[in-house]
This record gives sequence, C-alpha cells and structure tokens, in this order.
Amino acid sequence: MAKTRTLVLVCVLTLLLVTDIAKSQEFFFNGFGGASATNMALNGGAVIEHKGLLRLTNNTQRVIGHAFYPTPIQFKHTNKSSSTDTKLFSFSTAFAFAIIPQYPKLGGHGFAFTISRSASLANAYPSQYLGLLNPKELGNFSNHLFAVEFDTVQDFEFEDINDNHVGVNLNNMVSNKSVEAAFFPEDSANKQNLSLKSGKVIQAWVDYDSSNNQLEVRLSPTSSKPTYPILKYKVDLSPILQDSMYVGFSASTGLLASTHYIFGWSFKINGEAKTLSLHNLPSLSVPNKTQNHLILGLSLSFILTLAAISLACYLFRRMKNTEVIEAWERDVVGPHRFPYKELHKATKCFKDKNLLGFGGSGRVYKGVLPKTHMEIAVKRISHESKQRVQEFVSEVSTIGRLRHRNLVQLLGWCRKQNDLLLVYDFMKNGSLDRYLFDQPKKILTWEERFKIIKGVGLGLVYLHEEWEQTVIHRDVKAGNVLLDNEMNGRLGDFGLAKLYEHGANPSTTRVVGTMGYLAPELTRTGKPTTSSDVYAFGALLLEVVCGRRPIDMKALPEELVLVDWVWERWRMGAPLAVVDSRLGNVFDEVEVLMVIKVGLLCSAEAPEKRPSMRQVVRYLEMEVAPPPAVVDGGGGCYGELHSYSPWSSVGDDVPSSLSLSGGR
Ligand SMILES: *[C@@H]1O[C@H](CO)[C@@H](O)[C@H](O)[C@H]1NC(C)=O
Ligand SMILES: *[C@@H]1O[C@H](CO)[C@@H](O)[C@H](O)[C@H]1NC(C)=O
Ligand SMILES: *[C@@H]1O[C@H](CO)[C@@H](O)[C@H](O)[C@H]1NC(C)=O
Ligand SMILES: *[C@@H]1O[C@H](CO)[C@@H](O)[C@H](O)[C@H]1NC(C)=O
Ligand SMILES: *[C@@H]1O[C@H](CO)[C@@H](O)[C@H](O)[C@H]1NC(C)=O
Repeated sequence: MAKTRTLVLVCVLTLLLVTDIAKSQEFFFNGFGGASATNMALNGGAVIEHKGLLRLTNNTQRVIGHAFYPTPIQFKHTNKSSSTDTKLFSFSTAFAFAIIPQYPKLGGHGFAFTISRSASLANAYPSQYLGLLNPKELGNFSNHLFAVEFDTVQDFEFEDINDNHVGVNLNNMVSNKSVEAAFFPEDSANKQNLSLKSGKVIQAWVDYDSSNNQLEVRLSPTSSKPTYPILKYKVDLSPILQDSMYVGFSASTGLLASTHYIFGWSFKINGEAKTLSLHNLPSLSVPNKTQNHLILGLSLSFILTLAAISLACYLFRRMKNTEVIEAWERDVVGPHRFPYKELHKATKCFKDKNLLGFGGSGRVYKGVLPKTHMEIAVKRISHESKQRVQEFVSEVSTIGRLRHRNLVQLLGWCRKQNDLLLVYDFMKNGSLDRYLFDQPKKILTWEERFKIIKGVGLGLVYLHEEWEQTVIHRDVKAGNVLLDNEMNGRLGDFGLAKLYEHGANPSTTRVVGTMGYLAPELTRTGKPTTSSDVYAFGALLLEVVCGRRPIDMKALPEELVLVDWVWERWRMGAPLAVVDSRLGNVFDEVEVLMVIKVGLLCSAEAPEKRPSMRQVVRYLEMEVAPPPAVVDGGGGCYGELHSYSPWSSVGDDVPSSLSLSGGR
C-alpha cells in the first residue's frame, strides 16, 4: 500500500515538474520597454531604443547585433531513470520586425531567429554570416545552431535563392530549406508577395512540433496568424538542440547596411506562442523627423567645422615658426619634403576659399608656391597618432617614385604634428565626375571621353604591371580621375587607399573603395587585387558611356544598378540605348559598342573571368577585338538580371552619388 502511494507521488511530482518546466518557459514582450528592457542580453550594435524598440543594427557597415533572452531555455526533458532517453520539446515563437535598408531596394544583410548554445556568438562574422558563424565553423556539428534567416541579400557562396528569402539554417549558412518571402492572407491559400526590406512591420511565426518533426514558418503584415505556412520542413532537431539553449536574434550588416528592428516577441515551449497585436507595439518615429535632425546635425557640424577651421588658422598662424622636424623625417628618401611654412603660405592659411574638395580621406586645397608661382593641390590627412603618420610617410616615399603621364604626380609631402600633407600637381580641369553626372557645365564629347578612359587604362597598366612592384589602386572611380590642361585622364590617389586601413583586424577591415565600384569578392575576402581594380575600371567605362553613376538612387528601379541595366539592354539587342543622351547621337558607334562590351567583361562576377588591364588596353586601342560578352558562368548569372546584382553582397560607405570626394 505504502509502496503504491510513493509511486503515485513520484508520478505526480514528475508530471508537476514537467508541466512546471513547460509553464515557466514562456514569455511575451509587447515591446522591450520597462522591465523587459533589462530582460534581454544585448551585444554588438544591439540597443533598446526609447519607446522600447529593439534595434539589432543601425545603418553602419559591418556591424553585428545580438539580442537573446538572458536565461537559457530548457529544450529537452531527460528521463531520470534512463539518462540516454531524452525528449525534445516543441516550441513556438512569434515576433514582429522591420528592416529598413540604407538604400531602398538594397538590403544589407538580414537577421535570424536563433537558437544557440551561447548568447554572445563571440567569433561570428558580419555580412553574409548574419552574426551567426564564422567561415571556420560552417557546417560543424558541434555548433548546435538553429536559425531561421530573413535574408535580404543574395549570396552565391551560400547558394541563396534570391535577395528576399526565409531559410532554415542548421549549423551552417547554407540553408537546408529556403523559400521566397511571401504570405497567405488569413485562411486564404492565395500566396502574396512580401518584401522583407520594405521597411514595413512584418510578423513572423516559427513553430516546431517535436512529435512529428515538423517545422513551419509563417509571415504576415498583419496581426493574424495565417492558416498556411510559407515554409514547411520535416526535420529532427534533437541532434541540433541541446538540453539548454539560448533563444534570440542575430543581425548583421555588410558594406551595404540596413537597420533591423524587433518590435515585440513571444515564445513558448510545448504550446503555441501568443500572436502579437501589431497596433499595440511601439512604432518607428516618422522618418522626416530624423531627416530634419540630420540636416540640423549637418548644419551644426558645418558651423562647428567652420569654427574649428578659423581656430585652426589662428593657431597655425601662431605656431608657424615652431615647426619641429624629427630625425626620421630627414631620412625619408624620394619625394621632396616641403617646409610647412611654404604650404601654409601657398594655400593662404588653408583658407576655405582654397578648398577644392573633401571626402573621407581628407581635404584638398589649391595653392600657389610662393617662389615659383607653380600651382599645386595639397591634400591634408589628419591622424590620431604620430606613429601612424610615420608609417604613412614611408608609403609616401614609395608613391612618390611612381611616374606616368596618366597619374597625378606627387610632388612632395610635409608633416605637421599628426597631419600629413601631400602635394600634387594641380589639375586645372578638376575631376571627371563633374563632367558626367548631374548638370555638368560642359558635356564631354565622345572623343574626349574615349581619350580619357584610354589614358586611365594605361595608368592602371603601369601600376599593375610596369612598375617595380604591383600597386593596386583600390579606389578607381570617376571622382579619382583628374583632367589635365589637355583633358587627359590622370588617376589620382593611387597607393593611398592602403594607408587608410592600417591596424584593423581581418574581420573588421574597412574595405576601401566606393559603392558600385567594389568587386563582389572584396566583401568576402577583403583582399583587393588587380582584378578588383579591373572591376572598378569596368564600372568607370560604363559610367563614361552612359553618363550615369554605377548605382543611381534617382533612376527607375530597374535602372538602379548600372551594369544590370546595360547588360539587359545588351541582351535585348539595343546596346546603344544606354548611351548618354547628352552626346546627341554624335559618337563612333564601333568604339562605343566596344567600350560597353569591355565594361561588361570587366564587370564579371568571377574575378578570373575579368581581363587583365593590359588586355583591356589592347581592346581599347583596338589592337584586338574583345571576346563576345557572354553569360557569366560563375555563381552570378548575368542572364538572370533581376536576381543578380554584382553589388548584392557588397556596397560601401557612400555611393558615389552621396560621396563628397570631388577629388582635387
Ligand atoms: C551604429 O552602431 C555602431 C555599433 O554599435 C556604433 O559604433 C555606431 O556609432 C552607430 N552609428 C550610429 C550612426 O548610430
Ligand atoms: C523513462 O525511462 C524508463 C526506462 O527506459 C521508461 O520505462 C519510462 O517509460 C520512461 N518515462 C518517460 C516519461 O518517458
Ligand atoms: C568543430 O568544432 C569543434 C569545437 O569548436 C572543433 O574542436 C572541431 O575541430 C571542429 N571540427 C571541424 C571539422 O572543424
Ligand atoms: C543541412 O544542410 C547541411 C549543409 O548543406 C548538411 O550538412 C546537413 O546534413 C543538413 N541537415 C539536415 C538535417 O538535413
Ligand atoms: C510577385 O513576385 C513574383 C516573383 O518575384 C513576380 O513575378 C510577381 O510579379 C510578383 N507579384 C506582384 C503582385 O507583385
């Protein structure tokens, strides 16, 4: 009798225990304000914004954001009487999110609902890795990673189906199952399109039934859970999920960035998670307001910059007789070292009136050398440490020895405290971009354009092959092509890009370059090569023919990415339709067609498919005919224009349309 009673008691206790575990394993966040704000473990770029919005990433490049429920969830019940017999629980979750890309239509990169062993995922990579894994971990069974990715970039390396998909990833970034983002309204079986990166709030449901190994994902722009899932996948998660796991979200940006928001989240073990009511959630502030803030911020910083310049001028004037030249500076071989006083005088105390342009790399001033009356351009680069400047000067002694009629000659340099001043030949006619985009004062004729690109091509051959060591330019773009008195194209800023990325670790290396000119492999490898220069040169060729930027925010959506659009017209048999209308049909058809073709060849997704600069110059000089432009057999298929974009996993600081770097 007593025995039976104990048995019953044990049974009841076990049952209680099981239900108790299940009961405590449930949460519901209608926004992340108040107490729930402290109820999340955040790292990387993730923050709780005012009003309780969980922001995983902002529009900064290559950031990761993680937000996990702070305590691990128990996913398995272990039978005490036989420790090998464990049973996986079912789970269910619902969350509301929005993805706001920095540039409409170009998402970067996405986020994932994540179940993992750790809440920090410390060694994960950004970009296409979504902050989940790193290249060494791909596919390793000891990852114990389950993720449902909401991916807005098509990455060929991971066999992504398009740039708007939902996928289930098990220990890997290659999805085991993926579908195009879509939804079934209410109980209708009529599938509708849904853009993940529309910036609108979308609710997602992920349900796993462990009794029949069924995983289902649903999406909807509304508050009601659709009857039909868009993704159904039969999978046994018990080898993936361990007893105790963290649940949460991981997001990342690459060279292209999106802001990823989570508005609310519910989760439940062994039961259906409560659906969120979208109108009860915190909402995004009106974008206009941020724009005003931005304008206010910009004008404020402009005023501050002006104030800083005046102050600096004042200080410089006071300090101009106190230049200290250190021993190492005297040992620098090669280019001439200018006394600071001379440059100061030449640029009239770096007056704003003498400012030719400015960008990420520094300000460029016009000057006239006092003694010789020679016109110069002075680029001023500031750095935080003198040691850096010293490293840079050693690079400068190399760059100073490069000489070619299609390069802007470096005349000399000067160091003043932590500022490095580089002195170049002054190029009267400014940079090429000013003649191509927006409303140029002067329209270049086809003859002029052709001469310019041939010159730039020769300059690149010199850098790549003809000098004593290979120099990779890294930032070939219209803004870096300067025009001399005879309207010859000359490349500026060569060898400098390397200087800007010192000291970064490989996973965060700033990829130097400009959006639209960056070869797709650059984001993955981060390693610039002569072929990535060729890629940028291809973008330049197409720009010169079309009079358009490689990525144009103002163009029609289908014209957004220049190379796609050119390729499409090419395939449609209307290649001349892309030619800059401002040329008024006055151009050599054979030359234009050849340049378009070479531009497309250089834009091949696979680096090994691109010609070398020497081959390119042979084509441009019409010594040999370029091979036919064919469908790129690599990962990227030019034939599928809409799903393929050479920038899909790429992007950069600012597209050239927003860049301020006007060159000199
Ligand atoms: C975006 O997030 C990153 C990472 O937390 C941070 O360093 C950066 O300052 C943020 N940028 C803006 C504009 O808020
Ligand atoms: C636990 O394991 C024992 C022995 O394998 C088995 O008899 C029992 O039914 C299991 N209990 C549960 C709740 O699975
Ligand atoms: C998988 O990961 C484990 C733990 O990090 C490591 O010890 C093992 O070497 C990895 N296996 C492979 C094939 O990389
Ligand atoms: C998921 O995909 C990976 C890589 O493609 C594969 O190794 C693994 O076996 C798959 N897992 C399941 C459960 O199908
Ligand atoms: C939905 O998407 C498909 C494929 O992406 C496209 O062909 C179709 O036109 C879209 N439908 C609507 C209504 O936008």
